[in-house]
Amino acid sequence: MWSSRIAFIAAATGSAVGLGNIWRFPYITSENGGGAFVLIYLACIALVGLPIMFAEIVIGRRGRMSPINSIRELTTASGASHKWAIIGVMGIVAGFMILSFYSVVAGWTLHYAFHYFQELIGTGASITDPGATFNSLLGNVGELTFWHGLFMVMTMGVVGLGVEKGLERAVSVLMPVLLILLLILLGYGMNTGYFHEAVGFLFKPDWSQVSGSMFVTALGQAFFTLSLGMCAIMTYGAYLPSDVNIPRVGVTVAGADTFVAIVAGLAIFPIIIANNIDPGSGGAGLIFTSLPLAFAEMPFGIFYGMIFFILLSVAAWTSSISLMEPATAYIVEATNLSRKVAALLVAGLGWLLGLASVFSFNLWSEVKIAGKSPMDAIDYVATQIMLPVGGLLIALFAGWVLSSRITREELGEKMPAWAYEAWLWLTRVVTPLLILVVLGGILNLF
Ligand code: TRP
Repeated sequence: MWSSRIAFIAAATGSAVGLGNIWRFPYITSENGGGAFVLIYLACIALVGLPIMFAEIVIGRRGRMSPINSIRELTTASGASHKWAIIGVMGIVAGFMILSFYSVVAGWTLHYAFHYFQELIGTGASITDPGATFNSLLGNVGELTFWHGLFMVMTMGVVGLGVEKGLERAVSVLMPVLLILLLILLGYGMNTGYFHEAVGFLFKPDWSQVSGSMFVTALGQAFFTLSLGMCAIMTYGAYLPSDVNIPRVGVTVAGADTFVAIVAGLAIFPIIIANNIDPGSGGAGLIFTSLPLAFAEMPFGIFYGMIFFILLSVAAWTSSISLMEPATAYIVEATNLSRKVAALLVAGLGWLLGLASVFSFNLWSEVKIAGKSPMDAIDYVATQIMLPVGGLLIALFAGWVLSSRITREELGEKMPAWAYEAWLWLTRVVTPLLILVVLGGILNLF
């Protein structure tokens, strides 16, 4: 049980805030042309993300077990089919797939932290051409595999030893520091003279650019950044004391996550524009090729760069824990393996699958699956398809299967009547329809 509301907020925010906000949000925003995409993304957070966040916390807190068993328990109580537990199974698979490439990217951030450390103590060369530095990292299979492995071991250590609590405490100190660093970068960005252009790029919609795939990407990003659709927040909800106000903590977590993404965007795009990089150039390397330009110029930039990438690695660490936790918890429940062995199993398999992402940039750079690199294909299937499908089922389950007596107790008594009604009809009808329409776009049904 979390000791308090604050402990849950710290854990859930630790899960939500990560590479999704600082690495993924800027680069896919860039690839999708800015403004219109950002507004669609914000709409997805409000209309799909928030209702599902409430739903996951309610299911977790009522079930009080790992997702599969929580859902099974609740179906028994409501006389519904046990088949709903498939939500938990899908979540485990999706989390495992996301973990695989997440760990590779977190490995890049560890590498950059180490790079700046070496530069600081005078044993490493400085980054003069960030694009070339990044590409040479991507070409180095051994280096990528090592940092990916190290990050996986770090995650396994916490999950296997069950020491999340200690980490959460560290995080409630470190995450505010990361935010302060972002705000300093934002100040730097404002001084470049290109802040206005960056704001325009991020918020001025060019509706003529809107396409179906933009909706799919924005919806996927909303799930990814809030850690929704794979029962991670549900798992955390299982430890939430019954007197905590779910709407309030849900809004706090989603608000903090969105704030960090927007600040990251506002900090990074002025640097991109000031350095004559096309803000629409995108690519998974966007922050790694643009931020070093700022660190090279700022006072104490090397030190600053080191701290920044260390804290980004920590943010990724607290997120990856929540990616690994559901699968590990399930193995412990379903077999007689110990927690340590279960974590080793999940981490080992995640590391192996992650090699497909490592090889995407070198050995397998010619391999394309439906036009995507292996890493992009795994990301696409997990983030853009499996998370929304999971979210759809979670919404339907919370809206139609859970008795309204339960949701009224859990949510209705804690929020104004109109807000509860809005939540109920969002989860029952609007959110599922929005997800179906967007997913229908993938299948070209419309
Ligand atoms: N939300 C995290 C991020 O933005 C990543 C993450 C952690 C996640 N747990 C998740 C994504 C569960 C989807 C589902 O970096």
